[in-house]
Amino acid sequence: MEASTFTLLLGLLAFLTFLASFSAAEDHFHEFVVEAKPVRRLCRTHTTITVNGQFPGPTLEVRNGDSIAVKVTNRAKYNITIHWHGLKQQRNPWADGPEYVTQCPIQPGATYTYRFTITDQEGTLWWHAHSRWLRATVYGALIIYPRLGSPYPFPMPKREVPLLLGEWFDRNPLDVQRLAAFTGGAPNVSDAYTINGQPGDLYRCSKQETIRIPVESGESLLLRVVNSALNQELFFTVANHQLTVVSADAAYTKPFTTRVIMLGPGQTTDVLVTANQPPARYYVAARAYQTAQNAPFDNTTTTAILEYKNAACSKNGKPLAPLLPRLPAYNDTATSTAFTAQLKSPSQVKVPTQIDENLYFIVGLGLNNCTVPNSPRCQGPNNTRFAASMNNVSFVFPRSTSLMQAAYSGVPGVFTTDFPPVPPVQFNYTGNVPRGLWSPRRGTKLYKLKYGANVQIVLQDTSIVTTEDHPMHLHGYHFYVIGSGFGNYNPRTDPAKFNLIDPPQRNTIGTPPGGWVAIRFKADNPGVWLMHCHLDAHLFLGLAMAFLVENGNGPLQSVIPPPADLPRC
Ligand SMILES: *[C@@H]1O[C@H](CO)[C@@H](O)[C@H](O)[C@H]1NC(C)=O
Ligand SMILES: *[C@@H]1O[C@H](CO)[C@@H](O)[C@H](O)[C@H]1NC(C)=O
Ligand SMILES: *[C@@H]1O[C@H](CO)[C@@H](O)[C@H](O)[C@H]1NC(C)=O
Ligand SMILES: *[C@@H]1O[C@H](CO)[C@@H](O)[C@H](O)[C@H]1NC(C)=O
Ligand SMILES: *[C@@H]1O[C@H](CO)[C@@H](O)[C@H](O)[C@H]1NC(C)=O
Ligand SMILES: *[C@@H]1O[C@H](CO)[C@@H](O)[C@H](O)[C@H]1NC(C)=O
Ligand SMILES: *[C@@H]1O[C@H](CO)[C@@H](O)[C@H](O)[C@H]1NC(C)=O
Ligand SMILES: *[C@@H]1O[C@H](CO)[C@@H](O)[C@H](O)[C@H]1NC(C)=O
Repeated sequence: MEASTFTLLLGLLAFLTFLASFSAAEDHFHEFVVEAKPVRRLCRTHTTITVNGQFPGPTLEVRNGDSIAVKVTNRAKYNITIHWHGLKQQRNPWADGPEYVTQCPIQPGATYTYRFTITDQEGTLWWHAHSRWLRATVYGALIIYPRLGSPYPFPMPKREVPLLLGEWFDRNPLDVQRLAAFTGGAPNVSDAYTINGQPGDLYRCSKQETIRIPVESGESLLLRVVNSALNQELFFTVANHQLTVVSADAAYTKPFTTRVIMLGPGQTTDVLVTANQPPARYYVAARAYQTAQNAPFDNTTTTAILEYKNAACSKNGKPLAPLLPRLPAYNDTATSTAFTAQLKSPSQVKVPTQIDENLYFIVGLGLNNCTVPNSPRCQGPNNTRFAASMNNVSFVFPRSTSLMQAAYSGVPGVFTTDFPPVPPVQFNYTGNVPRGLWSPRRGTKLYKLKYGANVQIVLQDTSIVTTEDHPMHLHGYHFYVIGSGFGNYNPRTDPAKFNLIDPPQRNTIGTPPGGWVAIRFKADNPGVWLMHCHLDAHLFLGLAMAFLVENGNGPLQSVIPPPADLPRC
């Protein structure tokens, strides 16, 4: 054999080994085809953006430690990206998904393969579009089982049911967003809430498709409840049954029983329910927890049916009507607060104590005055346009590239790193705020964190326009929720009440309306990570900021190189 042929063969062999190493590295390969499909709800058919023609989209079932590849093909007419909500994406921001933050969108006709590994996470998460309001219909469950042979910290029932709570708009949700972006007014509210895509018995034309959850007397179920609604916190309950909470945001909790749970958009809660009631049919129901004052909201109730196998029938042999549960009033902040306060880690956890970055972020809405009176573009209150901000910066997403691509390649002029660590102006945040402070400035400002820094953030709601529960989501991290309260955070007295023993670990946490919440995490995941309000009605107004976490010096402390197929703008 000639030397050159030999070299060629060796090269070929190396190349094949290289290819094999790729496919062998993946435990799961999925294809997501984003495409429009007619979906009929509330007596009307709408062209709906779906994944693989399914609404909600496919459930991904994986194990802790698995590596996953999801090839997304965009056959819709809109730009799209997919976010794996709550996954840490260690050193791998390229797979996180928020449009113009960690990647450019996957344009119509294009594909992008998200490749990632699950690292030390188990429980219920979900995936969703992170591009304009497409997540209204583009979402699905992401279930992470423990490693093979690794036990659950609670008696795991034989059966489990993912329940995705959603919001249905009786129109194209992108039109709702476009109209609000044009008028500057509040966007229309949804027409129905849904459970696994179905509104349920209490809505027109929906009875036939109501989700049924069959159960045998005495049996227990694990309900994996996800709030995938676009713009609404929700109360959730099951008529006549106790719920035992065991996990939230894919982190186990000390089990406790409750009648009702509250989830902000982005949050998940796993509950055990035991069929210990007389055999019958019981409604599973969700409806709004609404904290903004004088704001319209969808005041309807979605239901599914927990159906005992031997449910009692009426005299004519028809099944008896299901029992409706009592849900808290839409403004029952006491119930929401009491529920959230019960969430704790199962045992003592390692909360960062030596704080390197002590951050105080005010979050809330704003109003920009219009100069032209009675303009169709000024339909906010009293000739204004709605705005939203963190520390008075209304976040502007770049369009020419993503923040991460700009940071990685050193592209100048895309962002600055002067996001303020504390409010630029001090005032009574939850008091009667002078009107002159209501208009935020616009900017693409990031906050730089050194690798490994111990970070504390106090997220303070303001009363500008209205006080409100803002479900704040941090990408790339799980954080400890160490304290919360009403009114203004007091740095002298409030830390004494912090729970540094067994606080819950979450990826999304609501600011109490007119209050504050304190979180801590170690900045050990380099990259650009978005933090934002998970009400999409606030996100597009600018209620966001991003962290730029620098690389560390160690061998596994740098962002990995971007994949070759990462979309370009
Ligand atoms: C919004 O709601 C108004 C009033 O119900 C309705 O006339 C309009 O068609 C809706 N449109 C969109 C795009 O939200
Ligand atoms: C919500 O709807 C219920 C009826 O289902 C009604 O009694 C209640 O007044 C409504 N609340 C608001 C704030 O619209
Ligand atoms: C809730 O709203 C009702 C009216 O819809 C009001 O009467 C009640 O005082 C409110 N409760 C709280 C706690 O704000
Ligand atoms: C709009 O103007 C009215 C009348 O001056 C006032 O009562 C109301 O508070 C104003 N609303 C806002 C949000 O500024
Ligand atoms: C802030 O405003 C609230 C509500 O008006 C008031 O109760 C509180 O005393 C004020 N706090 C300070 C520090 O002025
Ligand atoms: C906006 O208009 C209100 C009165 O309508 C005024 O009090 C406020 O100072 C104005 N804000 C700015 C930033 O000009
Ligand atoms: C936000 O910035 C704008 C523009 O600089 C200013 O008019 C406003 O008073 C600031 N508001 C707050 C709450 O800092
Ligand atoms: C889709 O993304 C590309 C690349 O960023 C951009 O040029 C284009 O304007 C986007 N299209 C829409 C409709 O936003």
